[in-house]
Amino acid sequence: MELSSIIKYPYHKILLNVQDPRHLINFVNNLNVPNWKCTEITSLSIKKLCGGIANTAYKISCGTKSVTLRLSGFETNKEFDKFKNIEIEFLMLDLLSKMGLAPILYARTLNGSILEYYKGRKIKLEEMRSAMFQKKIASKFVQLHTLSFEMNKKFKITCWHLFKEYTTVIKTHLVEESEILHFQKIEKLILNLKQLVKKTIQSDLCICHNDLNYSNIIINPKTKEVKFIDFEFCAINNPWFDLGNHLVQYCSKDTIIELLPTNKEITTFLQFYLLEKESSLDRINFAVYASRLFMLLATLLWGCWGQMMFFLSNLNNDYPKYYKQKYKVAYYLLDQLRKEFGAKINF
Ligand SMILES: Nc1ncnc2c1ncn2[C@@H]1O[C@H](COP(=O)(O)OP(=O)(O)O)[C@@H](O)[C@H]1O
Ligand SMILES: [Mg+2]
Repeated sequence: MELSSIIKYPYHKILLNVQDPRHLINFVNNLNVPNWKCTEITSLSIKKLCGGIANTAYKISCGTKSVTLRLSGFETNKEFDKFKNIEIEFLMLDLLSKMGLAPILYARTLNGSILEYYKGRKIKLEEMRSAMFQKKIASKFVQLHTLSFEMNKKFKITCWHLFKEYTTVIKTHLVEESEILHFQKIEKLILNLKQLVKKTIQSDLCICHNDLNYSNIIINPKTKEVKFIDFEFCAINNPWFDLGNHLVQYCSKDTIIELLPTNKEITTFLQFYLLEKESSLDRINFAVYASRLFMLLATLLWGCWGQMMFFLSNLNNDYPKYYKQKYKVAYYLLDQLRKEFGAKINF
């Protein structure tokens, strides 16, 4: 598929502000949102949706019709913004929404976007690890990962690119000897894992969500339909990263070791994923190995992201607590891997 031929999303060079509902109404009224017409300011409601770290999302409703307003966080400094790959996020969103795999992008503005609002609620952790939802989530991943695309270097941001960016920033900011030594060990581990992946996992790259935690999955409690949101990290990457990254999110946003997926849960999820392709015992064993390796890599990557954010972000989050816990869990996962795939992991 030729990407440039389908990228036509509307881009308005204006700033949206929830404090100015009249302007907001006029703006949304002029977009092509089906069934949306808001004539009375009194019928407009603006509800803040509990958001993630960097952005703020709002549900903007008029009568029974709603859209999502997503405002990007500007609290970070310039050095950070260059890692946000905003252009790719919107191009991917535009492409995927046309395939029904992402919310419709009604408009992009200078500080955010207006998107389709998915009726429902965030999936609960227990639901996400139940076989019924595992099947639905795995099936969505298959749809995403099997999309054909024109390989455009711009869209290719593998975890190795991100490791390089994050570690470069971290190294320029570290000053204390003990911290430098600790980080050198992390970097060595990443390097060894990269070589191991190169030797043992040959996979075609594909379009990946790259951040499928439970806050980014909306379910319709009535129909049990599953939708993915938040394509901020979406890019062309290794599919095993996407799966490993998702599976490791079972341990909640606090990265609790006891909540990590069991081998049975990992296998069941991967069987659903492979079912729609091919599924021999060898293939499943390989999938378990690849996903578990990438569960470790994803944990290390988010650890590096958190450590980088500690230096760059102006937001008042407890980044040290976040990244230290990620590194702790990463070492735990490494231990587990060594126990099960010892012969392969000789570092
Ligand atoms: N298209 C949407 N439909 C319904 N709810 C949404 C939509 N987009 C975002 N939300 C809600 O807003 C929250 C934050 O939005 P998200 O895009 O994930 O931002 P962040 O990057 O901050 O995680 C989500 O967890 C979800 O509850
Ligand atoms: Mg999110």
